[in-house]
Amino acid sequence: MTKVTPIEISVNPRYEIDITKLTGYLFEDFLTPKEFESLLSYWEQSHVHGIDWDKTIYYFKGKAHATANQRTFFDLYDRKIFDLPEKQEWYYQTKDTIYDWSRETLGRSIHPRIFQILEKVKTFPPFNNEPNKWIPIRGIINVLTYQKILEYHVDAEPTIYNAPLDEIDQYSITIYLNSVSDGGEFWIDGDPGFVYRPVPNSAFVFNGGTALHGVSMNLDKDRNTRKAITFRLVNIDSLLLPGHPDKFLMKTQSLDEIKN
Ligand SMILES: [Fe+2]
Repeated sequence: MTKVTPIEISVNPRYEIDITKLTGYLFEDFLTPKEFESLLSYWEQSHVHGIDWDKTIYYFKGKAHATANQRTFFDLYDRKIFDLPEKQEWYYQTKDTIYDWSRETLGRSIHPRIFQILEKVKTFPPFNNEPNKWIPIRGIINVLTYQKILEYHVDAEPTIYNAPLDEIDQYSITIYLNSVSDGGEFWIDGDPGFVYRPVPNSAFVFNGGTALHGVSMNLDKDRNTRKAITFRLVNIDSLLLPGHPDKFLMKTQSLDEIKN
């Protein structure tokens, strides 16, 4: 049985973020042994050395054009499992279509086990109040190799919100797949500060847009990599969803109509 513990954190307000309190949730024994085993093997299979692609698709004179950049990852970087706002169709959705569209898109493109675990996440707080209002926007394979840190930051995706960051309802859940002997602790800047030392098959959920946070240096005595998977979910009410440009009441000139 999963044990859920709400955790109140007094955060230090920073920059334009005027928030002093946040509630996180710690889940212990989060996944079943079968789910845990397959998520770990998914992590291992996704975490391969090599290259990845950044793609941009744009439309001009009725035709689709694509540009692509190749990047070398070696073993140092996080990998995306999915990234919905990277898709052009994201920006055509409305409050009425985004839920079905995101489910269909994820159902077609991600591993069924990942899809099932996302469904499970939505049965836990803070998502279980309104499970149909939470959109998983991104999934990441977390890779923290020996002597690496995750520098302090706040989670932000500036193009998709309809309000300032401190009013946005978004939560990240990190599911921990192993532990390291020293360092590799997740921290939130607060008074008192919050520090969590990962335990395998635990998960921590919080609103990463409201406080500085990061991960301390992995100093595992056997130089093991710290392994985790993170999903970020945003509430539909916090998303800017203008719909397809063809349906706008006010139309700007399209590229095709601009002469010279
Ligand atoms: Fe973060």
